[in-house]
Amino acid sequence: MNKDNMRSRASESFEEGNQAREEISTQPSSFSGADTKTEEIETGSEKRWAVVTGASSGIGYHLAELLGERGFSLLLNSSTEKIIEAQDKLVNRGFDVDAIEADLSEFEGVEKLWEAIEALPGVVEIVALNAGVGTGGDFATETSLEKELEIIDLNVVASVYLAKRVLPRMVEQGRGRLLFTSSIAGTMPTPLEAVYGASKAFLLSFSQALHHELKDKGIAVTALLPGPTNTNFFERAGMQDTQVGTEGKYTNDPREVAKQGLDALFDGDDHVFASSAKTKLQGELGKFIPDEMMAKQHKKMAAKKS
Ligand SMILES: NC(=O)c1ccc[n+]([C@@H]2O[C@H](COP(=O)([O-])OP(=O)(O)OC[C@H]3O[C@@H](n4cnc5c(N)ncnc54)[C@H](OP(=O)(O)O)[C@@H]3O)[C@@H](O)[C@H]2O)c1
Repeated sequence: MNKDNMRSRASESFEEGNQAREEISTQPSSFSGADTKTEEIETGSEKRWAVVTGASSGIGYHLAELLGERGFSLLLNSSTEKIIEAQDKLVNRGFDVDAIEADLSEFEGVEKLWEAIEALPGVVEIVALNAGVGTGGDFATETSLEKELEIIDLNVVASVYLAKRVLPRMVEQGRGRLLFTSSIAGTMPTPLEAVYGASKAFLLSFSQALHHELKDKGIAVTALLPGPTNTNFFERAGMQDTQVGTEGKYTNDPREVAKQGLDALFDGDDHVFASSAKTKLQGELGKFIPDEMMAKQHKKMAAKKS
């Protein structure tokens, strides 16, 4: 689909949605102001929803499972029928689970998910914008522009668009929590993953700005910054034959990454490096290490072995 079209259609659709919202905004809210550090909510018999994108596998699946364990009803999204398998597994855990198959790299997919969110009966308390993909290789000579524009549409455009949709509703409610899955890659130059790293740097900066805009309004916004994690990510990015895609990815476990992300979200933190001590150290020390060194190390980890 035409990408300019995607962006202009998203913006038009948002303006139309705003008009509709103004018409219904005279209805009283059932919430009072909330402290972003407290989990308790007074919703009476209303359902408390957590929405997780990219929930069919990896970190997103575990975010969903842990939110189910915390008592939330779940709305899961991914772009394939695998989301139904994830739904079945979580239903078998005894959770209340809806699922919506929608490709978030396309305007229609984002709209389809937003319509499903708007239709949820009850309170949309948590939104985890986690769906993301990458691609490995030399930008000038190896990678596909089509794939890179898809990365920008999914990781960046869909995240901005969904945040723009969801946050006014949370502000109106006076409470809500928004988690962005960025990456430790967003804190450094990422040769051989140039567009992916840039997309995650965007998400980190965006998330931190929103954190400071919204923290006094009862809304928590947190950036989850995983280090290399044992998921399908590297295979999908064509990086199986790299150091990070083989031994590197065992540095972190997806459930522990998800747990630390949610702990930070419920604590009202602006970001968290997750999950191992090694990743936390790399994240915190990275601020003091010259970009030249960080870039060299990243390039070594992302280079093809053969
Ligand atoms: N693994 C790592 O080392 C690592 C490190 C830092 C950050 N992250 C980030 O963590 C997030 C989750 O990745 P993961 O590691 O858990 O990998 P994963 O197992 O491949 O999960 C990616 C998820 O995104 C979904 N997805 C992919 N394209 C989509 C689209 N167009 N629309 C909607 N959903 C889509 C996938 O489901 P379908 O295939 O069913 O669509 C899947 O549920 C990503 O944002 C990634 O950038 C990963």
